Amino acid sequence: MTQTCGVQSVCLGVTLQLILAALLHQGFATVAPPTTASPHKEPGRPDRGDYLVAGTNGTTCLRASMGLQLNVSFSSASLNKTLQEVVNLQPNMTKTSGSCEADSASLKLSTDADKTVLTFFFTLNTTSNKYHLNEVSLSANWPDMKEPFSGHNNSLDYLHGTFGFSYMCREEQTLDVTQDLSINTFQLQVQPFGLNGGQFGAAEECQLDEDDMLIPIIVGAALAALVLIVLLAYLIGRKRSHAGYQTI
Ligand SMILES: *[C@@H]1O[C@H](CO)[C@@H](O)[C@H](O)[C@H]1NC(C)=O
Ligand SMILES: *[C@@H]1O[C@H](CO)[C@@H](O)[C@H](O)[C@H]1NC(C)=O
Ligand SMILES: *[C@@H]1O[C@H](CO)[C@@H](O)[C@H](O)[C@H]1NC(C)=O
Repeated sequence: MTQTCGVQSVCLGVTLQLILAALLHQGFATVAPPTTASPHKEPGRPDRGDYLVAGTNGTTCLRASMGLQLNVSFSSASLNKTLQEVVNLQPNMTKTSGSCEADSASLKLSTDADKTVLTFFFTLNTTSNKYHLNEVSLSANWPDMKEPFSGHNNSLDYLHGTFGFSYMCREEQTLDVTQDLSINTFQLQVQPFGLNGGQFGAAEECQLDEDDMLIPIIVGAALAALVLIVLLAYLIGRKRSHAGYQTI
């Protein structure tokens, strides 16, 4: 932008830059970063499963709809080095079990012959009526593992929700469990407490989703500002020409 530009065009320039920045940000956010070279092929997006746990009276007491991807590093038996493997959990080959107590609930997902057993533990603070995911454990016995994998952490603090509400995160979210284990969740909606007839309560959205919704708001605001500036410029221009000023 050069000095000779009038006030109106400087304003226009700034607004256009804002819009461009917002659009570019969105572009980068939706384009997946290139994956680093790895001996194993990365799986695509995991299928979304609908996992239900029934309470003692037979009604659903915990429900989780999500796509799950496990990211595990382990010692390879054949290559004699550490491998990083990314594996999708396949809903149609996964058995669901679990438990529901007054202030704790668990969801256990296991595959054929228990080659993979993944368990989520939630706790409810009955004073504040808030729940969260506090523990995850994974045991896996996959081909080429030198020894069965076991990963466990009981001091986690993820998926915060309120009793009677569900926690939702449409965006991909990574739950770091241990140094050797992380879990990527996709299109997640979960409710470990206070379901009503097996249905999710109103959703509380994660920060990632809220950030995503911010972009259209910023673009909209910038466009509105642009329209206002053009309108003002037009009105000022009209007033000036009425007053008999010469426009350059
Ligand atoms: C798997 O974990 C490793 C190490 O934390 C990380 O570098 C890699 O990006 C992860 N891959 C995926 C697909 O999440
Ligand atoms: C439960 O929530 C209350 C109120 O926020 C807090 O004071 C208390 O420490 C929490 N209890 C646990 C076990 O986290
Ligand atoms: C468990 O998770 C906590 C919180 O993310 C982390 O600080 C801790 O290092 C983890 N423990 C293990 C054994 O990885």
